[in-house]
Amino acid sequence: MPDRYEEALNRIAGKFRKTAEAASEAGIIPYKSDAGKWIASPYDGNSWWTGGFWPGLMWQLRQLTGDEFFREEARRVEKLLTDEFRSFRRLNHDVGFMYLLSCGADAKLTGDEQAETDTLHAASLLMGRFNPSGFIRAWNEPERTGYAIIDCMMNLALLYRASRDTGDPRFRQVAKIHSDTTLREFLRADGSVSHIIELDPESGKRVREHPGQGYALGTQWSRGQAWGLYGFALAYRHMQDEKYLEAAEKIARNFTAHIREDGLTDCDFCQPADEERLDNIAGAIAACGLQELAALTGEASWKQAAEKLVTGLLEHCADLGGEHCGILTHCTASYHDDGAGRHTNITYGDYFLVEALMKLCGRDPALWS
Ligand code: GLY
Repeated sequence: MPDRYEEALNRIAGKFRKTAEAASEAGIIPYKSDAGKWIASPYDGNSWWTGGFWPGLMWQLRQLTGDEFFREEARRVEKLLTDEFRSFRRLNHDVGFMYLLSCGADAKLTGDEQAETDTLHAASLLMGRFNPSGFIRAWNEPERTGYAIIDCMMNLALLYRASRDTGDPRFRQVAKIHSDTTLREFLRADGSVSHIIELDPESGKRVREHPGQGYALGTQWSRGQAWGLYGFALAYRHMQDEKYLEAAEKIARNFTAHIREDGLTDCDFCQPADEERLDNIAGAIAACGLQELAALTGEASWKQAAEKLVTGLLEHCADLGGEHCGILTHCTASYHDDGAGRHTNITYGDYFLVEALMKLCGRDPALWS
C-alpha cells in the first residue's frame, strides 16, 4: 500500500511542477480551477482565507522532492500574503490558515528569520481578536461581534507555535480559553459539532446557533466536523489536556460512522438522501486529523479510517495526470452557495490530500506543530 501513496505523491509533484509555473506567470494565488486552469479567489483579493494553502502545498512538495522551484513558488505567494498585513481590516481569524502554512512553514523548514517574524506578527493579529469573555472573534462585520466558528480550532495552531517560539504563555492561554468555550458550546451529544455559535460579546453567554455552510441549522456540515476533529487533536497535542483528546475521539467516531461505502464524504451528513453533494475536502482534512489521532493514541483503527478516506479519494476523485491543473475533484465550498465552488477542484482540497499522503508515507513536515 505505501508504494501506492508514494507513487501518487510523485505524480502529484510532477503535475504541480508544471501547473505552478502557470500560476507563477499569472501572478495569482491559485484558489480553484476553471476550465482546467488556476484562477484566483473571487472574494477579498489576496486576503481571502485560503491563500496559505498554495504555499503550504509548495512546501510539502519541496519536502518531498527537494526541488527548490517549490520553495521559490511558496515564497512568491508568501510575499503576496505578507503584503496583506496592510489590509488589516480584511483579515480575520483565518490568519492561522494564511500565515502558518506560508511564513510558518518557511520559518520551520528553512529557519528564515523574516518568515519567523511574520509568523509572530500573524499570531499577534489572532490574539488581538480575543474577547476576554471567552472566545476568538471569527469575522469583522459589526453585526457579527460575537460570532465564533468551529474552523478556528485549526487557526489556534498559530498560537501554540507562538508561545513555544517566544516562551510567552499568553498565546497558549488564549488558545486554551477559546478551546474550552468551543468544547462547551459546539460539541453536541452525538459527537457532531455546530459550525457557527453567536455569543454575547459582553458576557460570553450563548445567544444562538446560526446556519453556516452546511445543509441547514442543526445539521452536520462535514468540513466543520473535520475541522473539529483535527483541531481538537492538535489542541491535545499542544496542551495535553485529556478532555481535548476525548472530544477529538468523539468527533472522529461520528465522522467515521458517516464515511460512505466508496470512501467519499457527503457535504453534510444530514443532507437529503436523494441529493448527491460531495465535499472531498472534508474527507482529506479528516484523513489528516485521523492520522494525528492515531499518532497520539497508538490506535490503529484511526489510521485504517484515514486510509479508507485516502483510498476513496485516489480511486474515484483524483486526477493525477492529464491536462487539468489540480488533483482532487468534487470539492464543495458551501452547500447552498456555489460562488466559491461546487463539485470542482479547490486548492485546499489538494493541500490536505497531499498532507494526508505525506503522513501515510512518514514524510510529513508537521506544519501545524
Ligand atoms: N474555513 C472556511 C471553510 O472551511 O469554508
